[in-house]
Amino acid sequence: MLTVSNIPELRKVLGQWRAEGERIALVPTMGNLHRGHLQLVETAKAEASRVVVSIFVNPMQFDRENDLKGYPRTLEEDRQKLEGMGADLVFVPSSSEVYPLGMETATQVDVPGLSRILCGASRAGHFRGVTTIVTKLFNMVQPDVAVFGKKDYQQLLLIRRLVADLNIPVEVVAVATVRESDGLAMSSRNSYLSTDERRRAPLLYLVLKGLKIAIKGGAREYSKILEESKKDLISHGYTPDYLRILRQGDLSDAGSQDKALVILAAAWLGKARLIDNVLLHLKDDR
Ligand code: PAF
Repeated sequence: MLTVSNIPELRKVLGQWRAEGERIALVPTMGNLHRGHLQLVETAKAEASRVVVSIFVNPMQFDRENDLKGYPRTLEEDRQKLEGMGADLVFVPSSSEVYPLGMETATQVDVPGLSRILCGASRAGHFRGVTTIVTKLFNMVQPDVAVFGKKDYQQLLLIRRLVADLNIPVEVVAVATVRESDGLAMSSRNSYLSTDERRRAPLLYLVLKGLKIAIKGGAREYSKILEESKKDLISHGYTPDYLRILRQGDLSDAGSQDKALVILAAAWLGKARLIDNVLLHLKDDR
């Protein structure tokens, strides 16, 4: 596996692969790789003949200085995991490689609307940072396919939207959320949980699954069931940020006639802001 940290060298290797007719997949990450990331790499291997994984803790997408400073950085372990998975190249640029003239005046890519709701409402500028770095990585790597997790469902929709709006010739492939055996969605930020919080953390997914079962069973008073679920989370020490039932396609408000739904949640548990979602499709006859 090659480790590359600068853009000219990256372009040289990728240029050779392209000339040899290889199909290239990109898995963008911020490192601290867990089984969820490795599943993205596995999918990338099935989609392409060469797999590039980027590891870059992108300062532009952090809304809190402490979160950026404390974000787990485990490059050597990450490299070993990727080597074991059979990735072909890991791209680990520095901040100055990515933002050579500084971040403040750098061109930014913004998807209005969708980036301002849910996580975007409570994390100012977060998604602008994500869509900017993802566009830059797409331009640096020029992959045929890029792989993202469904756990960050809003991020996934934003990336699909930016690819469509900017006519970027990349196929976006989405991978189902990978969970711990008790249901907690894998996330680098789970390491912020204390032992007691970790014990309570699976409740978020249980609540989402409970809502899904209720809706499948005929519940249509969404505001009522959401209120009850929020109370449940609060009584277990969570501070909910949002809990919503929305349309899968564009995250707009879902009405009782909508069939393709997504239930999304973000909630603080101690120092960790957990996010999760479940998708559901209602049958026509209900
Ligand atoms: O999902 C992430 O880890 C990041 O938001 C991404 C897509 C790698 C951009 O920095």
